[in-house]
Amino acid sequence: MPDFYGTMVFIHVVSAMLSIGPLFILMPIIKRLRGVGRDIEGAYLSVINVIIRLVMHAGHVLVISGIILLLVGPWPWYTSWVVMTVIVMGVSAVFLATGFTRVLRVFNSPGTSKRKMLNRLNKTSWIYIGLMLIMLWLMVLKPNFW
Ligand code: HEM
Repeated sequence: MPDFYGTMVFIHVVSAMLSIGPLFILMPIIKRLRGVGRDIEGAYLSVINVIIRLVMHAGHVLVISGIILLLVGPWPWYTSWVVMTVIVMGVSAVFLATGFTRVLRVFNSPGTSKRKMLNRLNKTSWIYIGLMLIMLWLMVLKPNFW
């Protein structure tokens, strides 16, 4: 019978997977979006919407399961790799909220440069992936900074 802590680590790791993985599908979609007309554009944008929603939900499960792991597990909250992860997490939450959702909202409004928006979406996605990989590194290697 798996213990509660082990189950939580599993949920935590699955949600980490779902928080990062879908973003890699975003890149080829952004590439294809550049050359299509308005009608097909809508279909691609709805896929981007689903991806961003999925990543957001998984991100919430990731934070909540992480907090539960801290509450029931052996690691105190002030452990250096935990503190560093929480700080990076705060930065990436801001990125996801302002970067992604704003791009989607602005995309359909008149007068917006499509190319500019796609460049921004692409850049935001890479920065987000970078931040997630830093957190993954912190979580798996658990380095001691102090
Ligand atoms: C609020 C943020 C977070 C908190 C409080 C948190 C907390 C924790 C804790 C306490 C563990 C258990 C370590 C163990 O017993 O071995 C853990 C494991 C893990 N976390 Fe997080 N976490 C957070 C965010 C993240 C993020 C953003 C990612 C990925 C990008 C992530 C990926 C992982 C992975 C892969 C493990 C398993 C590592 C291992 O077992 O060696 N976590 N986390």
